[in-house]
Amino acid sequence: MPVKPVVVVTRKLPDSIETRMMELFDVRLNLADSPMSQAQLIAAVKTCDVLVPTVTDRIDASVLSQAGERLRLIASFGTGVDHIDLKTARQRNITVTNTPGVLTEDTADMTMALILAVPRRLTEGERLMRSGTWAGWSPTSMLGQRIWGKRLGIIGMGRIGSAVARRARGFGLAVHYHNRRRVHPSVEAELEATYWESLDQMLARMDIISVNCPHTPATYHLLSARRLKLLPRHSYIVNTSRGEVVDENALTRMLEKSEIAGAGLDVFEHEPAVNPKLLKLDNVVLLPHMGSATIEGRMDMGEKVIINIKTFSDGHKPPDRVLETMF
Ligand code: 8YV
Repeated sequence: MPVKPVVVVTRKLPDSIETRMMELFDVRLNLADSPMSQAQLIAAVKTCDVLVPTVTDRIDASVLSQAGERLRLIASFGTGVDHIDLKTARQRNITVTNTPGVLTEDTADMTMALILAVPRRLTEGERLMRSGTWAGWSPTSMLGQRIWGKRLGIIGMGRIGSAVARRARGFGLAVHYHNRRRVHPSVEAELEATYWESLDQMLARMDIISVNCPHTPATYHLLSARRLKLLPRHSYIVNTSRGEVVDENALTRMLEKSEIAGAGLDVFEHEPAVNPKLLKLDNVVLLPHMGSATIEGRMDMGEKVIINIKTFSDGHKPPDRVLETMF
């Protein structure tokens, strides 16, 4: 790889990150910040050494199959890698990196915010205030569900799931979890978490579900129409992971019929599209994929991208390599 590799960045990054990239690399920035079309992505991979995509780019086989010989690294800005065809990348000997760890706490904070917001009707109350129709306090108005003492079922006990569990204990929630593998007994003890090997059995017994697993072929519609039906009517579901993990249409139908009490969604199956029926419901809190959206988080992510590119172009293995076998 040349000393100053040609790096294409698909979206606008924080100014100081872009400045540092300009110092280190022969970088092509996207100052307009408009998402690139598939044709633009193909044009980019034909001429660059390194591509820096984000969740809004689909780096699939049709893009990768047209990549030039010189494309050696995809240094994604973000933790999730479901927008990248890892198998094709491996076959073409293209290294893939991501930015794990630095957005754990921010995403866990946002998950907790939704866990509190939905049962306590936060955004409903806010809408009432802004409507100018609040008639004053009443003993029976805006009643929600108590958080303390409820059972929280975390799906995916990785970094973010564990960070949610730590916060949840402070709010008096009993932590339960389902994961592909049971976590180490010392972690389980620290989090006072109860493991459920069977997701179905856990779902049937929880008050709040938090989705914190990555989207992979194995977790696509993990919360299918059948599984969602296992949830108790009084339960809530929060998703700060990926929309594809939940069957959004099935969830919407259940919310409309009050077969589930509410949902807090930061991610959607077909972003930026949202099922229009969700927008009409009062028992949902909807956020525009902002789980990791802090200034500090974005800076840390950018720095990780730079370190991954620099280490790789210096001829070493970058720290945040993503392997297919990790998922
Ligand atoms: C990122 C995310 O901001 O990192 C992830 O996986 O979901 C987001 O918080 C986004 O993916 C950037 O590519």
